[in-house]
This record gives sequence, structure tokens and C-alpha cells, in this order.
Amino acid sequence: MIGDSSFAMSLLIRNGEIITESQRYVADIYCENETISRIDRNIAPPPGAEVIEASGKYVFPGFIDPHVHIYLPFMGTFAKDTHETASRAALIGGTTTYIEMICPGKTDKPLEAFDLWLDKARGKSACDFTFHMGVTRCDAGAMSDFREIVKRGVSSFKVFLAYKDALGVTDEELFQALRLAKELGVITTAHCENADLISQLQALLLAGGKTGPENHYWSRPPIVEAEGVHHLMTFAQMSGAHVYIVHLSCDKALREAVRGASRGVNVWVETLIQYLLCDKTDAERPDFEGAKYVMSPPLREKRNQELLWNGLQKGFISTLATDHAPFDFATQKRMGRGDFTKIPNGIPSLEDRINLYFTHGVKRGRIDIHQFVSTASTKAARIFGLFPRKGTIQPGSDADLVIYDPAYRGKISAATHHMNLDYNAFEGFEIEGRPHVVTVRGKVAARDGQFVGEAGRGQFLRREPNHF
Ligand code: URP
Ligand code: ZN
Ligand code: ZN
Repeated sequence: MIGDSSFAMSLLIRNGEIITESQRYVADIYCENETISRIDRNIAPPPGAEVIEASGKYVFPGFIDPHVHIYLPFMGTFAKDTHETASRAALIGGTTTYIEMICPGKTDKPLEAFDLWLDKARGKSACDFTFHMGVTRCDAGAMSDFREIVKRGVSSFKVFLAYKDALGVTDEELFQALRLAKELGVITTAHCENADLISQLQALLLAGGKTGPENHYWSRPPIVEAEGVHHLMTFAQMSGAHVYIVHLSCDKALREAVRGASRGVNVWVETLIQYLLCDKTDAERPDFEGAKYVMSPPLREKRNQELLWNGLQKGFISTLATDHAPFDFATQKRMGRGDFTKIPNGIPSLEDRINLYFTHGVKRGRIDIHQFVSTASTKAARIFGLFPRKGTIQPGSDADLVIYDPAYRGKISAATHHMNLDYNAFEGFEIEGRPHVVTVRGKVAARDGQFVGEAGRGQFLRREPNHF
């Protein structure tokens, strides 16, 4: 029944190789009433239980994408996915929970924005979901709304240091938001780029006739991002608030984060699959194809990729996300023909994150399988107050499981993907492995590249503040 998640059911997954951030062993997993109830060898199938044979396969905790945009009014248009299309794509790719950014306009009331974003997701998403609350203004009314939104179960804020007149905050607002976050024990996620430098550089480039997508990079070079990170570190130090840098793209920015951490700032860092596998030259592709690869911060020089992989492996970088923000090529990206500043920013990858990360990370020996689980699931659960309900495999946790087939071979293509989009930035990329079965709270939601779940079964995950 659509929307009804209260029915009893049981599921037995046999002989899979269970992989968590710290353990690796073969066992059976028995799930009842949406949670994992027992992990043992040779569990006899109880009458009526659905049995899935998983020998030769890995069993991972459901993957968590801590940074997605689904309902997103942005740069004069709207992102293309709905929660129905996005959650389907996410589940096929092994992501069972996502955290969406609520991005209110500067004149919108935060509580109304919260209700709107919740309304767009509830009853539509097949993934479990929660939100980061975007702070785009800090007057008394807004501050009181933020307190209420935290009480309603959203324990993280989002600030933009970029997007000057649209979503960005002033320094006064940044300080006030961080002080409130500190008081309430919520973590603040931040898009770190210096907004004034970007608008100055954009104006100079356009005045010089540099209008193509390849110029996006030069309007936001690494130093502009590093300056944003440095700025956030200063404000976090002064306020004592805990902060999380979203979509960190490069060496210079990471150094500023590590410098902040070394003087005591409580900071966590996220990078994206796009920065690990695509680079600056993609946005230089001819015939405006580079527009498909325009996002902020921009794709960087290839040499940064090794540093980001090492950061994930060594723990300087906590999470791997997508910043899924789908704008189509046929009409939306084309809004920026003749003016790169009007290309809607975003490179969607919600469906492909895990398969790409497994193939180019685990299979290529860049990241070990426990760090893979940790950075794609467990750490997001810990940082954002979802652990141990999500992010691990243990009795009592939600039965969100990815039975993963490392023998699968395939290729990514827009012709076969499930995101509501007319291109795929990873077109033609080979993948070595994909989810065989994906469960959300004990119910099979995807099988071998097909969605077999229920739209609207996803739950809003209420989270308590955990950053005091
Ligand atoms: O280019 C990006 N990252 N697009 C989505 C909006 C944002 O900045 O997160
Ligand atoms: Zn951003
Ligand atoms: Zn984003």
C-alpha cells in the first residue's frame, strides 16, 4: 500500500560478506519490522520470510548522500528532478538516505520554506530523507523560525558565502547564524567561495569578451575558494560553532581547512565524486558542451584529484557527496550561451556516485573498502545525527542494506539512467560493480538496476542537535 510503512515483514539475507567502516565478515542478516534484528551464521529462514541469497556479494549499509538539491529554484529556473525521480535513481544506485538543502530566497520566511520543502518530499520520496536548513537572512523573525525548525528535527544549517545577491549571507549574518548554531548545538554546512571576488572577476571576464563555459573556472579560481574556507575558519573560531565545508574541490582550499582544524576549529570536509573524476578540461569541451560541466566551485586541474583521494583515505575529508543539481542541456544549460554566468550550476550524479566511487576508488586501490563505506555512509550518519539508526549494520539499525555485486560490468549512459535529465556527465564511464538488491527499512526497493519500491514510502528523519 503506497505510503504505508507500518506493515510487518521479515527478510533474511544469507551468506553475504558484511562490510562496515570497521568490520568484514560473512554472516546472515535477519530483518523484522524495518530494522535489523539478528546477525549470525546459518539463521534458519522463519516462515514467511523473504530470503535473498548474497554469497559472492558484499553487504554494505545503505549509502547516504549528505548534499543533494531536488526541489531547487535557482538561477532563473528549477532543477529537473522531483523526489519521485530522484529517489528512484538514488536507490538504483545504492543511496537509501539523502539530505536535501532547503534554499529559501532572501525574502521567504524560513518556516514556510521548511513546510514547502517537506511537502515536496513527503509522500513522494522512496528514500528516507532529511534537510539542511538554508540560512539566507538573520532578522529576528527568521532567527525565531530557525529555532522552531531545529525543534522540528532539522539539526543542521546551510550558509552560502557565494551567490551574492541570491542566497549568500553577509558577514554579520554569518556570525549571527553561527552563534545561533553554537547555542542550539547544530552544525553549519557552508558553500565557501568569496562572493565579491566572483562578481568582480565575472564582470572583468565578460567585459573582455570571455563569455564561454570555460571562463567559469577563471571567475572562481582555487584561491577564491581557499579565501572562502579561510573566512569560514575565522568565523567558526570566533563563534565556537561546528562547521562542515560542502563540495571542497582543491588543494588550496583543503590546506585552509586543515589549518583551521590544527588551531582547534571543529571542521568537517565534504568532497564530490565529480571532483575525483572530472577536471577543468571537461568544461572546455567545444560547441558549448562544456556547460554540462559547469558547477561551483568549478572542476579543477587534474592534479588535485590525487590529493582529494588521499584526503578521503586518510580522513582529512570526511564525506563523499554529489551536490546533485540537475539542469538539462537542451534548454536550461543553454540559458548561458553567450554569458557563462547564466549557466545554471550543477553536475548531477545522484545515481552514479557509489558505482563510480567503488570502481575508481576500491577497485583501483585508491581507497580501502572500509573507508569507502565510512566516507559514503557512516561518517555522514555520525556528523548529521543519524547514527546508529543509519550508516552501519548492527542489530537495532534500520534495515537499509545494499547487496552489492562486484562482478557486474557496465557503462554509464543518459540513455539508461533514471535521473530526469538529458545528459550524463559520466557518459561512457565503465563501472565494475553495482547494487544487486537495495532495501530501505527491510523492504526491497531496487533490484539489478530497476526500481521495485514504493514512491512515497520514504520517511522524514527527525534529527536531534549533536554538536555542543
Ligand atoms: O554548482 C553547484 N554546486 N550547484 C548547486 C548549488 C550549490 O552551490 O550547491
Ligand atoms: Zn554550493
Ligand atoms: Zn549544493
